[in-house]
Amino acid sequence: MAQSSLNSKTTESAPQVVALVGSYRKGGIIDSLVDEMLAVVADSGLAVRKIYLNEVQIEFCRNCRRCTQAAGATRGVCDLEDDMAALLEVLDRADGLILASPVNFFTVTALTKRFVERLVCGVYWPWGQWAPKLRVTHPQRPAVLVISCAMPALLARLTTNALRVLKSAAAALGARPVGSLVVGLVARSEYQALSNGARRKARRSSQKLMAALRR
Ligand SMILES: Cc1cc2nc3c(=O)[nH]c(=O)nc-3n(C[C@H](O)[C@H](O)[C@H](O)COP(=O)(O)O)c2cc1C
Repeated sequence: MAQSSLNSKTTESAPQVVALVGSYRKGGIIDSLVDEMLAVVADSGLAVRKIYLNEVQIEFCRNCRRCTQAAGATRGVCDLEDDMAALLEVLDRADGLILASPVNFFTVTALTKRFVERLVCGVYWPWGQWAPKLRVTHPQRPAVLVISCAMPALLARLTTNALRVLKSAAAALGARPVGSLVVGLVARSEYQALSNGARRKARRSSQKLMAALRR
């Protein structure tokens, strides 16, 4: 259903929703939640694409900050040679985004974090300035943030910073979160099936995303 390879070009002219999966496993909770969400989007005639971060070569940010030095709305260029530029191109073409990660040690996975740190090119941050400024200050395109965790969902909202990290990622990508989906109590067995409640929540999140896309 959803395309997963970074190189596969989409020719569809319908609005496109791209989902980034920051889980280490296919068929796990995050992957299943994203599938549920993308199925709703696809049923409405929109194009969908799913990208697994563990299938994309992304180097660690080395804090040279060359990409943050020039002012302006255009993202700074990174010297590292990997798939990040191609991935950003795909994400830039998307009309809506789904950013999804399990909660590990009270935050997003290291896989997700490695990608998020590379989004520093989305801010203007010359040396000497204590805080960065977003290049896109009034993002229009919508994003939904998705996390899963062993603890109850409410506890994850209160005690982890995973959503905050995904929110910063959305901002650096020039996207505006219109909803967040937190699915808790997911680690009762190695491959737990999605509950009906989780499926319902996922579908509702997709509907929010599509409503925002129509506006
Ligand atoms: C290394 C590691 C750290 C974890 N840390 C947390 C945590 O801090 N809080 C929590 O609620 N769940 C934690 N979990 C459980 C995962 O969030 C849960 O298994 C995951 O959401 C399932 O997603 P997946 O099926 O896509 O892998 C951790 C799991 C692992 C393997």
